[in-house]
Amino acid sequence: MTAATFSQWMSDIQQRTETALDCALPAADIAPARLHEAMRYAALGGGKRVRPLLVHAAGQLSGATPERLDRVACAIEMIHAYSLVHDDMPCMDDDVLRRGKPTVHVEYDEATALLVGDALQTQAFLHIADAPVCDSPQGQIAMIRQLALASGSRGMCGGQAIDLAAVGLQLSLAELEFMHIHKTGALIRASINLGVQCGRRLGDNEMASLDHVGKVIGLLFQVVDDILDTEADTATLGKTAGKDAASDKPTYVSLLGVNRARELAEEMCADALGRLAAFGDASQRLAELTRYIVRRQF
Ligand code: IPE
Ligand code: IPE
Ligand code: MG
Ligand code: MG
Ligand code: MG
Repeated sequence: MTAATFSQWMSDIQQRTETALDCALPAADIAPARLHEAMRYAALGGGKRVRPLLVHAAGQLSGATPERLDRVACAIEMIHAYSLVHDDMPCMDDDVLRRGKPTVHVEYDEATALLVGDALQTQAFLHIADAPVCDSPQGQIAMIRQLALASGSRGMCGGQAIDLAAVGLQLSLAELEFMHIHKTGALIRASINLGVQCGRRLGDNEMASLDHVGKVIGLLFQVVDDILDTEADTATLGKTAGKDAASDKPTYVSLLGVNRARELAEEMCADALGRLAAFGDASQRLAELTRYIVRRQF
């Protein structure tokens, strides 16, 4: 489709996401300077930018413009960064390392970390509402609504609540799947759905198929996160390895063992790739990204 290799494309999207986030976040010297500095600390200069990559890859299926995709990608990445700041706080996973740096509550303080999360979340909605991201105002409202749904109690926050309530319990596979589809899957699924909606309108069947792909990729992303928590080291991950077992969290690895968890991730990958094949060349980046998500080392 394009001459660039996947790794060149990936690095291009990562760079443009960094630039777009830098512009979208309040400058560090604007009052309240400490809060703005901490928001930038949480969102800039790290992370794989998987959700922005998914937005851009999905946008290729509907011919969306890079400018619209940047805006949606930034909004989703702000929500994601907020979720990490809160996830790391002592009242949740109590982690000291994130993206190779001290977590926000360690570098600043707990109250600042709480406010960084709050402010990144509202900044995300401000950003996606501030300029057109699709052809009609009604379409844009529908997109904002989807982002709210994916982030809230019936999406990411709901999944986080289930995760916290599940400490020390053994969940069934169905319960674990439900938790993962919400805490991590919802925002990943939204990245694909919203990326597509930045461009021309696709048919209902195509949208339903891509929604399924998003659901599968979201689940498999967290299955691989569970595997890496047990198999990778802290330096490679940029976050403390072995945390799930130490905190007695139910994961795909604790329930099924690492080999079966890996097999399941490969099966989900094959399912997603099978669906994407129907979209031909336009799905090249999304297919490459799906393979990257399963085989990543961190
Ligand atoms: C980590 O997400 C938290 C989960 C939802 C599993 P990522 O692995 O995408 O973290 P960054 O953005 O690359 O740091
Ligand atoms: C986090 O899951 C999911 C969200 C932040 C919404 P984890 O708690 O497994 O993420 P890590 O391993 O700390 O990145
Ligand atoms: Mg967590
Ligand atoms: Mg965590
Ligand atoms: Mg994890």
